[in-house]
Amino acid sequence: MEDKLEQLRDEAVVAFREADDEEQLEQMRVQYLGRQGELREMMKNLGSLAKEQRPAVGRLANRVSQELQQAYEQRQQQLAEQAAQELAERIDVTLPGRAPRVGRRHPLLATLDEMIEIFLGLGFNVAEGPEVENYHYSFDALNYPEFHPAMDEQMTFYISDDVLLRSQTSPVQIRVMEQQSPPVRIVAPGRCFRRDTVDATHCHTFYQLEGLLVDEGVTFADLKGTLEVFAHEMFGPSCHMRFRPDFFPFTEPSAEIALTCMICGGAGCRACGYTGWMEVGGSGMVDPTVLTGVGYDTEKYTGFAFGVGVERLAMLRHSIDDIRLFYSGDMRFLEQF
Ligand code: DAH
Repeated sequence: MEDKLEQLRDEAVVAFREADDEEQLEQMRVQYLGRQGELREMMKNLGSLAKEQRPAVGRLANRVSQELQQAYEQRQQQLAEQAAQELAERIDVTLPGRAPRVGRRHPLLATLDEMIEIFLGLGFNVAEGPEVENYHYSFDALNYPEFHPAMDEQMTFYISDDVLLRSQTSPVQIRVMEQQSPPVRIVAPGRCFRRDTVDATHCHTFYQLEGLLVDEGVTFADLKGTLEVFAHEMFGPSCHMRFRPDFFPFTEPSAEIALTCMICGGAGCRACGYTGWMEVGGSGMVDPTVLTGVGYDTEKYTGFAFGVGVERLAMLRHSIDDIRLFYSGDMRFLEQF
């Protein structure tokens, strides 16, 4: 009897351990531990044993019963954990796929690209200069006298007394002219920085497109004609251009450039301060002092230059009334373009 009990235990422990799922385990439980299971059946025979054998066999039977119960519960827990893990790892092939987001150009850079494209068509090349610039190229070479009021609008971030984040793309004019002799015909796109308080029309970081043309016999009419072609290409023939006298140290004469506000079509709205015009940049004939500074012969050559704010044009183009939207990183805004 004792041998039989031990044999039963060994067999049942293996059977529990090898049960592959809860259903099989349940079957094994019934078979070995159930009311009519093998252990119970064996225990019914206790009575037929000699009296002095009964206590020892009875104790063994109890122990076997406990051990089987334990083996059963252990396997049950293992199977439950396995099932939970499988459920967590299961791939639901019926779920709809996740479409990858299609990227697109930022509206500012798309506008800049279109501007460049127009000037390429007019025979200009693209030039670039550093965003971290020195004082010489930023101001000295552009004919800014120290402490001149024109410096006020060029307040920027200084790395040292002599090195700064450029406040305009105009220094590229000097860098280009130092590198080549006339004729020069370039546009220089790029990021600029100013110590401006951020509001609906100002940001500490912004883009400009600079233009420079130097050749024999260049006149103010060439400047005006070039910018007018640009305005029409960009916004269509209903966009007019307005020149008003302005001052920049590196041009003489200088003109502020304004375009018909394309948000209201010139009727006047909040965005243009009810004037119907949007100021987009500055321009003028390159001051002879600047040309002399880079070794150009001012008897032979004249030139014009301009600088246009890219954000302004992008705002006009898409009827956007707050510059901060460009830099917000807000996908709801960006996905509209
Ligand atoms: N750099 C000037 C600014 O940011 C804009 C400008 C004016 C550029 C006249 C020019 C120019 O090239 O000729 O305020």
